[in-house]
Amino acid sequence: MSDGKVTANCIKNLKGKKFPSLTAYDFAMARLLDEAEVPLILVGDSLAMVVLGYPDTTELTVGEMEHHVRAVARAQPNGFVAADMPARSYENVPDALTTAKRLLDAGAEAVKAEGGREIIDQIKAITAEGIAFVGHLGMLPQHVKEEGGYKVKGKVPREREALLADAKALEEAGAIAMVLELVEKTLAAEITAAVSIPTIGIGAGPHCDSQILVTTDLFGTSPDYIPRHVKIRPDLKSSMRQVIDEWIESIK
Ligand code: KIV
Repeated sequence: MSDGKVTANCIKNLKGKKFPSLTAYDFAMARLLDEAEVPLILVGDSLAMVVLGYPDTTELTVGEMEHHVRAVARAQPNGFVAADMPARSYENVPDALTTAKRLLDAGAEAVKAEGGREIIDQIKAITAEGIAFVGHLGMLPQHVKEEGGYKVKGKVPREREALLADAKALEEAGAIAMVLELVEKTLAAEITAAVSIPTIGIGAGPHCDSQILVTTDLFGTSPDYIPRHVKIRPDLKSSMRQVIDEWIESIK
């Protein structure tokens, strides 16, 4: 992975390779992830909560996302930069194309959107334009209000069948990879075996092709809440607070 720029095709070819993916929202973090040779850098709409102080991802605007995509792109990482299309910015084909092109102009190399067959026309329109697309199935944070919280998906047969069909539809529509968020782990394994593009798990068990975390969750610096699926928990927030306190003492 150290010999040059990661492309959409490289991401597809990482199927079965157990590769890391992480989020970045600014220049410094993109640099750090690139030093660590992370092949897939997502400017996730988790930006809303962990950087911008919104309660969830539902209010983030395309303008806010563009601003952070530009910061990440300025690092010119070798890692492949994907950006989330914010909630309600891809409700129909024209909107989806406009949003995808704005994010590409800001420096993203792929766009990601939440949903399966219900947004398949938008996905097909995006891939038909030659724009790399990353899917997102399972728990859909942009629908957290309707869904009543962050709950595991795929525990009952009907939901399992629907998610498997959605995964196949995403592959057929030309997605290069798909995030599986809080998908029950045996279903995540089944989907991973059923599709030829990489699955990127978050709280979806160990069998996905890649694992992704919100980077501030990994560092323990997320402001409010660290999800249960984050296993390594350094307390960098306390260390940062200690550095601030020491500096305050030092200037007295
Ligand atoms: O917004 C986000 O950060 C995501 C993840 C998959 C972590 O969608």
